[in-house]
Amino acid sequence: MNGLDYICDSCGQSSKKWSGQCGFCGAWNSLSENKKMLLQTKNTVSKTIGQKHLAGKLESLTSINQIKTERRTRMDTGFSELNRILGDGIMPGAVILIGGDPGIGKSTLLLQLLSYLSQNYLSIYTTGEESLEQIKSRSDRVGLTNFAKNLKLLAENNLETIIHILETEKPKIVVIDSIQTLFSLNSNSSAGSVSQLKECTSEIVQFAKKTGTTVFIAGHVTKDGSLAGPRILEHIVDTVLYFEGDKSSRYRILRAFKNRFGAVNEIGVFAMTETGLKQVSNPSAIFLSSDRTQNSGCIITAMNEGTRPLLLEIQALVSPSQYQPRRICVGIDSQRLNMLLAVLNKHSKIDTQNMDVFVNVVGGIKATETAMDLAVIIAIYSSIKEIVLPVKLLVFGEVGLTGEIRPVSNGEMRLSESAKHGFEIAIIPKRNKPTKSCPFKNTILVENLADALLELNKLNNQ
Ligand code: TYD
Ligand code: MG
Repeated sequence: MNGLDYICDSCGQSSKKWSGQCGFCGAWNSLSENKKMLLQTKNTVSKTIGQKHLAGKLESLTSINQIKTERRTRMDTGFSELNRILGDGIMPGAVILIGGDPGIGKSTLLLQLLSYLSQNYLSIYTTGEESLEQIKSRSDRVGLTNFAKNLKLLAENNLETIIHILETEKPKIVVIDSIQTLFSLNSNSSAGSVSQLKECTSEIVQFAKKTGTTVFIAGHVTKDGSLAGPRILEHIVDTVLYFEGDKSSRYRILRAFKNRFGAVNEIGVFAMTETGLKQVSNPSAIFLSSDRTQNSGCIITAMNEGTRPLLLEIQALVSPSQYQPRRICVGIDSQRLNMLLAVLNKHSKIDTQNMDVFVNVVGGIKATETAMDLAVIIAIYSSIKEIVLPVKLLVFGEVGLTGEIRPVSNGEMRLSESAKHGFEIAIIPKRNKPTKSCPFKNTILVENLADALLELNKLNNQ
């Protein structure tokens, strides 16, 4: 026997020897024989494939210039926001994973989507989580009863049964809600385990590619986005969309994380209303509260999410720590925060070693762009020094390890969008100097962190 013969049901790692505890994730009694591997080793290549077949395969080697591509018409989802993040609609035959926290709105979006698509295509919604009555009452609540004749529902957890029904009914669009509730007979482990998730998803992908059916898969992500979530499935499917947002706020962001048929990092903004999800077509300032007051530790930055600017409020609170200093961030990467604190320490002699640092991006959105660096540092500095920042101040810029303020893409677009929302003073990288007439009253160009903090102190003393 060669290769890796035991696979962990909990983390999916393989190992040569059996043991009571998985050496990778520490789970007990989770190793089982990798049956597929055994089968492959028993049937040697020549026995299973055959010489004739192999010869045929050689002929199928094709030069890239000979391949003809047909332009497949994309399907309209009924939401222009969703069409945009998918890359101008749904590519027929694509497998699209929609991930997000439980209760964020995945089932609602999928039901709305399917009821729109079912006007033109036979669609099947399979659920392993809710009863058919629950789905019907949601559809009544959202007001979808009018055009649901081509929309069929199926309550089932077994993948083989679902695939059998799909092969018989031949729908064009399928929803699987959710992948965590499915189990395949090809895996011994329980529904929701890593090996079941992988097995079920690969079988669904095979089915979709063979039949040209478009499949949407809903998947829950745990708070830390860890193993139990659909992260491990990202490479198997064509497109991955994640729902972000604070459940207490009405806004939901749908972000394209991976897309074989379009751009990534494009976002769509939706609002959860009494009657389901509604798209927000002009979302640049939805996360700004209308009655903002001057405060220390709060600053607005302009992000460039996909193709549109989005104004976000970054808040920081720094206070002396009682015990072990804490670094807590919501909406930004903790490694990035540690790096920015080190830069602040090295280049501006601001020591946060014995301080608790909390950073929050308002609205539950994840700010992934480095353009927010300067805003994070200024929010932290303003909290430490108790500098009250002007309400009309906007800040963006990437901060390098040497303390330099680096330019960001689409600077002018960020400025003009924020000017529309009443911002008048901007602290921005020198190399983002606007070439056209600047819509701002006061544009402060900075080259390094020390300059930026000096300018901030000047503003405070004005
Ligand atoms: P749901 O789609 O069930 O979330 P998920 O499938 O991601 O777990 O969303 C449920 C939440 O949305 C729930 O808290 C109720 C709320 N909701 C509304 O506010 N309005 C509506 O019209 C619907 C259908 C749900
Ligand atoms: Mg759901």
